[in-house]
Amino acid sequence: MRLDKLLSHSGYGSRKEVKQLLKSGQVTVNDQIIHSGKAYVDPEKDLIMMNGEQVVYEEFVYYLLHKPAGVVSATEDLKDKTVLDLLDPRDQVKSPFPVGRLDKDTEGLLLITNDGKLAHQLLSPKNNIGKTYFAKIDQKVTEEDKIAFKHGVVLDDGYQTKPADLVILKSDDISEVEVTITEGKFHQVKRMFEALGKHVVYLKRIAMEQWKLDEALEQGEYRRLSEAEITYLKQLK
Ligand code: URA
Repeated sequence: MRLDKLLSHSGYGSRKEVKQLLKSGQVTVNDQIIHSGKAYVDPEKDLIMMNGEQVVYEEFVYYLLHKPAGVVSATEDLKDKTVLDLLDPRDQVKSPFPVGRLDKDTEGLLLITNDGKLAHQLLSPKNNIGKTYFAKIDQKVTEEDKIAFKHGVVLDDGYQTKPADLVILKSDDISEVEVTITEGKFHQVKRMFEALGKHVVYLKRIAMEQWKLDEALEQGEYRRLSEAEITYLKQLK
């Protein structure tokens, strides 16, 4: 890849800023000062240094975002703020995108990455990856609802969902539950409750399999995934 692109994608500024760094002789490739951003380098083989420090190039980036309500799970939107707008501009240079969609009013765990292969694995219904949501419901949730979810419910378009796990935390005028689904149909959790005549008043994704939303992350905050988390997500299939 081009040297200026690699440096820019490694956090050394815009292409213009990188051009200046190259011009001033701060960049070496295999111990030779390189002035042109057009030079081609292989990040796997070439030793690239900036001011004597090795430039470590990462092809893929992985972030865990605690999505707040009010932003859309898209890379761009004419009207609304997107989840990408919550990232530092330096963390946007490698064109990450949200893996799947949470509704605008849904909060919680959202993976943002530029690793298309992992995104595909995590989203594929074949892989049965459990996504767990905490929800508040506008009325009492019952054992019958639990059984209905276990069998799968028929949505408004006639689709019968796969079995889902419903844990009732509190059954009251406003109930609290945890729901685990392995698919990702449009508004799925809300529509599953609508099929039983109930309405979701609050929804937050709290986990994907054993990968849990980090409680230390405030709404709107994000962090890089650790190597262990990336490895865990990659073997979920
Ligand atoms: N189900 C929903 O209804 N909405 C979401 O955002 C995610 C799952």
